[in-house]
Order: sequence, then structure tokens, then C-alpha cells
Amino acid sequence: MSEFISKVKRTHSCGALRAKDIGSTTVLFGWVSNRRDFGGLIFIDLRDRDGLTQVVFDPGISKEAHTLAESFRSEWVVGIRGEVRSRGMQFNKKENKMMAATNPNLATGEVEVYVSYAEIFNRSETPPFEVNENSATSTSEEKRLEHRYLDLRRPSLQKKLITRSKMNAATRAYFHENGFLELETPFMGRYTPGGARNFLVPSRLNPGKFYALAESPQLYKQLFMVAGFDRYFQIVKCFRDEDLRVDGLPEFTQIDVEMSCVKQDDIFEIIEGLLKRMWKEVHDIDLPAFPRLDFDESMARYGNDKPDLRFGMEHVVLNGVIEKFGAEGGVGPMWETLQQKGLIKAMVVSPVAAGAHNPVVVKAKEEAFRKANPNPTAKVPPPPHEFSRKDIEELELYVKGMGAGGLARAKIAENGDWTQAPLFKTATPELRAAIIEATGAKAGDLILFQFGPVAKVHTIMANLRVELAKRLWLIPEFGAGGNWNFLWVVNPPLFEYDEETRHWAAAHHAFTRPMDECLKYLEPETFDPSKVYCYRYDVVLNGFEIGGGSIRLHDPEVQKKVFKAMGIGDEEARSKFGFLLDALKYGAPPHGGLALGMDRLAFLITETESLRDVIPFPKTSKGTDLMTQAPGDVDEKQLRDLFVKSVPPAKS
Ligand code: AMO
Repeated sequence: MSEFISKVKRTHSCGALRAKDIGSTTVLFGWVSNRRDFGGLIFIDLRDRDGLTQVVFDPGISKEAHTLAESFRSEWVVGIRGEVRSRGMQFNKKENKMMAATNPNLATGEVEVYVSYAEIFNRSETPPFEVNENSATSTSEEKRLEHRYLDLRRPSLQKKLITRSKMNAATRAYFHENGFLELETPFMGRYTPGGARNFLVPSRLNPGKFYALAESPQLYKQLFMVAGFDRYFQIVKCFRDEDLRVDGLPEFTQIDVEMSCVKQDDIFEIIEGLLKRMWKEVHDIDLPAFPRLDFDESMARYGNDKPDLRFGMEHVVLNGVIEKFGAEGGVGPMWETLQQKGLIKAMVVSPVAAGAHNPVVVKAKEEAFRKANPNPTAKVPPPPHEFSRKDIEELELYVKGMGAGGLARAKIAENGDWTQAPLFKTATPELRAAIIEATGAKAGDLILFQFGPVAKVHTIMANLRVELAKRLWLIPEFGAGGNWNFLWVVNPPLFEYDEETRHWAAAHHAFTRPMDECLKYLEPETFDPSKVYCYRYDVVLNGFEIGGGSIRLHDPEVQKKVFKAMGIGDEEARSKFGFLLDALKYGAPPHGGLALGMDRLAFLITETESLRDVIPFPKTSKGTDLMTQAPGDVDEKQLRDLFVKSVPPAKS
């Protein structure tokens, strides 16, 4: 019978021992991370989720333990008892002198444990890859996902999931302190059209009928408000059968919130408070108040509603300038765009000052260079400061990839001349001067232009802005990168015009409350859906939408007008939203809420480069689980029991 398992408790985790413990006896359990056999002494690093401790087997202390340790291999699970000793002094060959043998990179680095008793709890087969940080790059992600339980032993992944656990704890504590109730909602509900594509679940007890897996608890949380629960939150799984995006998953987690009798500002206060609390607990940082930006302004200055504020290069709308000079300004294609009610935008790219590059990127590039060039005298290339002619040609290919006709540009020379600017050959000096004034461009700057259909120009310029920042090392390729630029983007239009159906449709959903001052545009005399803005908001961090919500429409009269503007009659509204409309008739309080994307938050706060790193058992980009082989086959009988027939995919 094993002495440890039957009688002895472990006294410390593998990350706990410090200098103050020297002289005491400790019992540690853990995995053998590596073993160094120096003939006389055997050293192992013992690992658990808390850290590593150096453990020494000295035959002079226990011959038995030393013999046992000779058999140890990586990933075996062992227990040891021993004396905590100082690592003391050691002869350092490189420095040619006695030096402290402490390891400053390890929390337990001042001590080691000399073993008097050891036991093997379990042996491990040789793992398919080594459990260490090198395997993250040397082993394919597929292989690591197949054996996720081994990959999850890596300290860096454990740290991320421990942070995620802390975020959950902080969220629960914060909401409970603020009078919120944690209430649950069904995953299996009724399919309602609109929104994301749903996963469907066949009902065995109701032949031919299907549940839809909840894409969010939206309707239920509104019903909680109608039922009088006042303040609700839930950390909840949501399911959307979407094609995978880099920042989107089929199965993800929201921190879902709803509050009664609130204005937009109340929701901002609560959500900012939560995010501040998380950043304080994880990074010990006090975040400042989040700035707010109107949706329209965000579109004009950044081309989208989730701008990355870690760098400048704001867009400038030039429609006014081109209009002022008309066809006589000398830039025909821009004038034509104006005639077609299109958009003309410019963006100034100034040379990056020395030291203004993102330090996280600089460090990463240096490390990558050192890895590729082991010669220590090799000089790390300096960060890029501006774009060469060749770089700009590459950028032109990049925008063409998004459907742009080209990349109009002008480089401003020291004497004020415009070079590399074929489009402006025939432009009048006055027009050029007006563009310089509008954009604020100086000598040495590059101005980039796009003109064409509004949505297309916004998108191309938004993506280009981010791409430029990546190429100039102002932000990392993907993820957070050391600074935290939160932002509220508020009050977008309620409707967008759907060219295909020739109808106004809800830009987000039909239960968003129009802004009070816009209600008149729903009245017959002043009817104009394009002018109806609403109480909707997104919270954005470093270019990622980390949450979104709205003040809901609780007034059935206004609701009817909104449906009418979208061409939805009473019957259609009833069939689509029946039970919510019913509930709103029975004394619904004013209410609003928001949902934060927990996975996105976790991947940003841990400064990871992949969403998968903050999800214990993630799916691949094809929605498969390489470890369990889900989704998998089921047999005919199972399908028959569910009244489901499998048909082969249509040939494309
Ligand atoms: P929305 O659809 O904007 O709003 O979702 C809220 C937040 O959830 C995150 N998110 C995702 N994260 C990972 N993978 C996905 N596929 C994914 N989709 C969304 C985003 C997003 O900001 N019921 C409303 C909220 C409300 O109005 O209260 C809703 O679900 O960070």
C-alpha cells in the first residue's frame, strides 16, 4: 500500500516553497518535468499547475529513493518527501567563480528539496510531444489539439486558463455585490428567424420538430425584466452555426446582462466597472474612463464601428473639398464619385518617430530574428519608419485584393511638391492646397486615397488603416499588445436599407429603442427611417468588439411603428416574435442590457494570439474537435428514433 496515498497529505504545491521554508520538511506531488542524472546526484523538476520545484535525489540521504529516481521519466506522476534546502553557492564555469545557484526566473528558485522518501503514483507512456513551451512551436497545432490534456499541462496555457477562472470569479463577485441575480436560461428553445444561423436539435418526443440551440439568452433576459427580476446576469454558452472567423466561434461564452429602469449611462457605468475590476485583478492596472464615440463619427474617422485607437492615421472625408472645386479641381474620378453619391477618403501616413514603435512587436521581432540568426553578432534590422515605393506597390495589391480599383497616393516632398501622385497630375494647386489643409499632411508624409461606393470605401480604408499599423510595427499581428484602448461606440442608425429586398431592415434587432429625438421620423408626416438613430452601443478594445447591447423597445406603440417602417405587418410580427410581444403587453418596465464576449475578453487580457488558447477544449476552424473526433457518425437507428433522415451533401 502506498504510504503517501493512504496516509500522507501533500504540504505544498510545486510553486509554493520559498527561502523562509528552508529547514522544513515538505511533501510534494507532481509530474516529472525533466530529469538530470549527474551520476552521484539526480535532479528533477517537479511540476504542477502552481509551478516547478527542483528536487534532488542524493544516495547519501536515501539510497532507495535515488534508485527509484533512476527509473523516472517525463510525465510520470510521483510524490516525494524531503528537506527544503537553500540552493546555496555553486561553481559557475562561465564566470569561473563560485556564485549563488538560485534561479531568478523561478518563484521557487531559491530552494531545492533533498528527498528522503519517494513514490511513483503512475507511469506515463512516452508522450507524443514534450510538455514544454518549445512544443508550442515545434509540434503542429493539430497534434497538440489531439492530445489537448497534455498540451494543457504547459505552464503558459495553464496560466491563461487560471486567468480565465479569475475573470469568472471577479465577474460573479462584482455582479452579486451590485445587486444582480445569476439566473439561468434554456439552451434548447424555439427557432426564430433572423440573427445568426442556429444549430438545430431534433426532438424525439415530438416527431419532426426541432429545438434551436440559443444563439444568446436575449429573449429570456427581457422576459426576466418583465417578470420583475430587475438586474440579471449570467456567464452563459451561446451557439451560432457560423463559418468560423478568427475572432468568432461556433460555441462561445457571453457575460450576459440586463437591467430594468435604466438609461444607456447606467449600463456603461456597470460594464465599465466590471472591466476595470477584471483589469485590476489580472494586471493590477487602473483603467481610465472609457471614451465615447458616435457611430457616424467612428465610420467617418475609422471606416468601421470597432476602431483600434492604439494608433492614429485617422481617415479624412474629402467629399466637401471635391465638391467645392467641382470638375475644375482636375481630379475627374473623384468628381465622378461625388456625382454618384459615393465617398472620398484620405489617410495621412507620417514617418514613425524613433522609439514610437510598439515595444511588444519590437521585442517579438527581435526574438524571431535571434531565433532565425543564432550568430550573436548578427544585427537586428531596425523597425520600419515609412513605406518605400515598393512597399506602396505591395499595399496596392493588398487593397486590390479587397476589390479596390487601385491605391491613389501622393508623397509630399520637402519643397511641397506631390510625387508618386499620377491621379493628381491635372489637379489644380488650389485643390492640392485644400487637400493638404483638410488632411493636415506635412512634408515627408504619404497621403493614401480611396473613392467609390460608401460601404466599400469605408471597409477598404478601415482594413488598410490596420494593415498599415501592423506593417509599421505600431500594433501586433493579432491581439492586445501591451496597451488597452477601450471605447464605447454609441447611437448607430436603427435601420439599414436592404438593396435586395428594397426594404428597411433592423441593423441589429427590431427591439432596440429609437432615440427620443428621432421618434418623429417614424411618424407619417416626417417619415424617414434613415434618420432614426437608436440607443445601441458596442464596447470595443484595441479593434475588437468585446461587447454589444441596447436599450430595448418596451412601448408597444413605438414597436408597431418600427415594424411598420420595416414593412412587417401584425401577423408577421406575431409569427416571428409572438411570445415577446405578448409579454411586452403585460407591464414591461423600461429595460436594457449588453453581452460581453468572454472568449474575446480572455484572449485580449491574456495577450494571446489565438482564441483557442483561452478555451480548454477548442474546436478547429472547421468546427471539429480533434481529441474526441466530434462531430461524429451516428447509426441509422439513432436517426430513426429522432425521425431524421441523412441526405448526402448537394454537389456544388
Ligand atoms: P452580440 O451578438 O453582439 O449581442 O454578441 C455579444 C458579444 O459576444 C461576442 N460574440 C462572439 N464571440 C465569439 N464567437 C462568436 N461567434 C461571437 N459572436 C458574438 C462578441 C459580441 O460583442 N443578445 C445580444 C446582446 C444584447 O443586446 O444584450 C448579443 O448577443 O464579443
